[in-house]
Amino acid sequence: MPANSMDELVSLCKRRGFIFQSGEIYGGLQGIYDYGPMGVELKKNIKDSWWSSMVYKRDDIEGLDASILTNPKVLKYSGHEDTFSDPLVDCKDCNGRFRNDHLDDSKCPLCGSMNLTEPRPFNLMFKTAVGPVDDGKNFAYLRPETAQQIFTNFKNVMDSNPKNLPFGIAQIGKAFRNEITPRNFIFRVREFEQMELEFFVKNGEDERWHEYWLEERLSWWEDQGVPRSSLEILDVPDDELSHYSKKTYDLMYKFPHGEEELEGIANRTDFDLGSHTKNQNEFDITAKVTNNKESNSKLAVNNLDEKKWEIPYVIEPSAGVERAFLAILNEAYNRESLPDGKSRTVLKLSKHLAPISAAVIPLKKNDDNLVKLAKDVKDELQQVSSRRIILENTGNIGKSYRKHDEIGTPNCITIDYDSLEKKTVTLRDRDTMDQQIIKINDINKHLLI
Ligand code: GAP
Repeated sequence: MPANSMDELVSLCKRRGFIFQSGEIYGGLQGIYDYGPMGVELKKNIKDSWWSSMVYKRDDIEGLDASILTNPKVLKYSGHEDTFSDPLVDCKDCNGRFRNDHLDDSKCPLCGSMNLTEPRPFNLMFKTAVGPVDDGKNFAYLRPETAQQIFTNFKNVMDSNPKNLPFGIAQIGKAFRNEITPRNFIFRVREFEQMELEFFVKNGEDERWHEYWLEERLSWWEDQGVPRSSLEILDVPDDELSHYSKKTYDLMYKFPHGEEELEGIANRTDFDLGSHTKNQNEFDITAKVTNNKESNSKLAVNNLDEKKWEIPYVIEPSAGVERAFLAILNEAYNRESLPDGKSRTVLKLSKHLAPISAAVIPLKKNDDNLVKLAKDVKDELQQVSSRRIILENTGNIGKSYRKHDEIGTPNCITIDYDSLEKKTVTLRDRDTMDQQIIKINDINKHLLI
């Protein structure tokens, strides 16, 4: 049962340390957020889950972690310098600035005026000076997508880790866009992370692989707690496709503010490798590429059967970590009435995503023996877990349970006097609230840690 409103999620995120407005003590910075103790764990678990499904569980995909600061030529030949823009309009009455395609009835959303300028393209890339002299010539872009350096590293990866088609390169990392109107909490922000796969295939096999990746991604979302029934597949109309795309499926999710794109799965054809390659005339490139006389690398594979070099096609599933965070949080959010007339908020996150995989709680916070045993249990569990286990020593079991319901901890382990004598603990399940007594030595068998 998703949240009723974005406000419920924003409030939970602040209260329980998932997300804070960046620079809040100075009034914040629009479209920029910081991730607190719980947020950083949830984000990490989402990224780990994506990485595991893309890289560890497969033999045809390699990883990459390229730089954020990007040589302007990369984004010149990728087409971003010329085309990566949104239509900007100004209100002549209140000086507000908006994305033209976000306006209702061509009215200023601030003052209602219809006295607006004609839309003009506004490039979304951030620039920064490189080196001590800021003369406007020595600059780099903050990458607007992680994809481009996958393309420019194509030969490096192939030379160091040879692969036959089809194969992919995966990357997770920050991307930056100077959005005209960042809004809806972390849905549209200026600094965000992307999880992108560029999957290289033979021309002619691209459409089959496109369908394959659509299914793979739907199945991954299902495993993260976002079922197919919550996703619409939008076959993006031709006149809305990005400059590099032959066909794109957008996975649309009903966020609390409305249905919008969660992930895009694009057929980028041979546009990108073709645009960044040298000696373009030597290849049968199908896309309308940027004419390139500056690249020193041939971004192609040797087709031994046909004895010719070919530029592969690319299928790209590209998901934003922030939008994944928001959708997963929204799906997991539940308000429940309890038999005693009270209610609780509980995040029914999939176990592998929960920020805390288990909380160990001594019955009394001032009893040295209970606290020591709780610490020993915590330490032992942590040794075998790659996710966080915590010692929750507040001395108030009821409050601890409420807190861990709200942050989605699947299990709480309470250490009481029987734990000292009989070596047993009470294991509480987040979703059912059932409690069972189990042996300390058996805790591992009951948890996904
Ligand atoms: N490499 C392809 C690409 O960047 P995109 O549709 O512009 O395509 C891919 O972005 C994904 O990145 C989106 O589906 C979304 O999840 C995320 N994303 C894009 N812009 C974003 C923003 N301003 N804030 C948060 N996430 C964003």
